[in-house]
Amino acid sequence: MTEIEIKKFLKELKEYGIDNEIPNISETSAKFLQDLIAISWAKNVLEIGTANGYSTINLALACKKNSGKVVSIEFSANSHNQARKNIFQVWLSDYTELVNANALDYIPTFQDDFFDFIFIDWMKRRSMDFLDLSRPKLKKWGFVIIDDVIKFKDKMLSLYEYIEKKVIEYNILPLDSDDGVMMIVKRWKIEKIF
Ligand SMILES: C[S@@+](CC[C@H](N)C(=O)[O-])C[C@H]1O[C@@H](n2cnc3c(N)ncnc32)[C@H](O)[C@@H]1O
Repeated sequence: MTEIEIKKFLKELKEYGIDNEIPNISETSAKFLQDLIAISWAKNVLEIGTANGYSTINLALACKKNSGKVVSIEFSANSHNQARKNIFQVWLSDYTELVNANALDYIPTFQDDFFDFIFIDWMKRRSMDFLDLSRPKLKKWGFVIIDDVIKFKDKMLSLYEYIEKKVIEYNILPLDSDDGVMMIVKRWKIEKIF
């Protein structure tokens, strides 16, 4: 399948998501994530919250160009199966590993210092737990992007408290008119912290 055909498929999948209330990322965020993977040469990407695979396809497209791969975790079997079907349809199965599991149980099974980039797009109230679990899995100078941090800030207060307490540096990027993402780069200081 050509990239133009995949883009057409993604447009239709996005419209399907809007019609069926699937909370897919915005097209602006999708473009931003792809650009980040391109400029950072990220190869090992982790996504939490696959849903029907809209964001995963975007991530996989960028990973393919770096000869990399995206691992995406989803705990709803129904969404996981839809994503598998959609990803197969655009011939990106070789660049994705879909995991049907609860991310809270699954993340600790990854090796430390492995991922170049982690994208968090799941239950907003648990963002803090996820960040805490995934921090050790990120390589030095790897980065985390957390979605919806403006629109759902009130559901993410524990996340904001956590990064303040741990003195983690971050940027908020208002990509959409009503929302944006948080970016955290894993710095290597004297101690092994963000
Ligand atoms: C906002 S949607 C993801 C949208 C997707 N990233 C996209 O843009 O196409 C969040 C997804 O996270 C999944 N989820 C929620 N809690 C989870 C958990 N503990 N482990 C794995 N997946 C989870 C939900 O089932 C839901 O499909």
